[in-house]
Amino acid sequence: MAHVYVTRELPGRPLELLRSAGHTVDTWPGELPPPADVLRERLRDADAAITLLTDRITGELLDDCPNLRVVANVAVGYDNVDPAVAAEHGVWLTNTPGVLAETTADFAFALLLAAARRVVESDRDTRAGGWKTWSPTGFLGPDVHGATLGIVGLGEIGQAVARRALGFDMRVLAYTRTPRDVPGVSRVAGLRELLAASDFVSVHVPLTGQTQHMFGRDAFAAMKPGAVFVNTARGGVVDQEALVAALRERRIAGAALDVTDPEPLPLDHALYTLPNVIITPHIASASVATRSRMAEMAARNVIAVLDGKEPPNAVNRPAEPRGR
Ligand code: DGY
Repeated sequence: MAHVYVTRELPGRPLELLRSAGHTVDTWPGELPPPADVLRERLRDADAAITLLTDRITGELLDDCPNLRVVANVAVGYDNVDPAVAAEHGVWLTNTPGVLAETTADFAFALLLAAARRVVESDRDTRAGGWKTWSPTGFLGPDVHGATLGIVGLGEIGQAVARRALGFDMRVLAYTRTPRDVPGVSRVAGLRELLAASDFVSVHVPLTGQTQHMFGRDAFAAMKPGAVFVNTARGGVVDQEALVAALRERRIAGAALDVTDPEPLPLDHALYTLPNVIITPHIASASVATRSRMAEMAARNVIAVLDGKEPPNAVNRPAEPRGR
């Protein structure tokens, strides 16, 4: 029997799966992440951890938790854990690929539509008593159908967004470092080229050393003046100062952000003062079914490792896995 620490209450049946595999489970009950000292203390005796993207798992922490054999992140992204550092410690790191692409793409598209057609802004205005009459000039925005969408990063989520865009009769361009052909999508050789040609830009790259602040002053300057920027990937891919400047100077028309840096974005941040910005609290994968599947997938990864098997969704490969 092994012991699993789960850093937040999760939807679905992950605990049932773990318990029926014979393991004991302890869950952090708070709505906020466990503080670093609590996490360290709880993981000290744990054989496995189910973590969220808000839990930083460092080498130092792993040094202190000699029994820990697997960190199963309930996310496809894993910028909260360095996979190489975990592997050096003999610890498997797993993620949740495949199960959240469609749900995340739905949300990216919802943001795109909402920003283009000023859904949030007009709702806010209506509630504040601004609806006086039908106005021929009120809340005008660009059409989505027939416009060009530039997708940055053509993995599972980028491809799912492309399918939706094609259904809206959009022209779809993509910039990707992994060569792949997707029906109806034209690949462009450079980011600048994509930005200069797109009415909407949607970001779907992981946060890495290469993508950190990929969208800075130069990128926003390369975008069309009326373009809308959508980010459901990671806040760190954007230089937010540069984004604020681009929006203030009307170099781009709007932005819809499900991710920011940091998260949550402090309430006094300049982005909140701009009417042409939509900010949501990192909820692109938040459907009941998808979040349950993600949690259950993490539990299955844990069970595999505790059974002495390779986890199905490993993102690293420890040369000498702990516990063998
Ligand atoms: C992920 O999975 O990385 C998302 O950001 C949360 O669903």
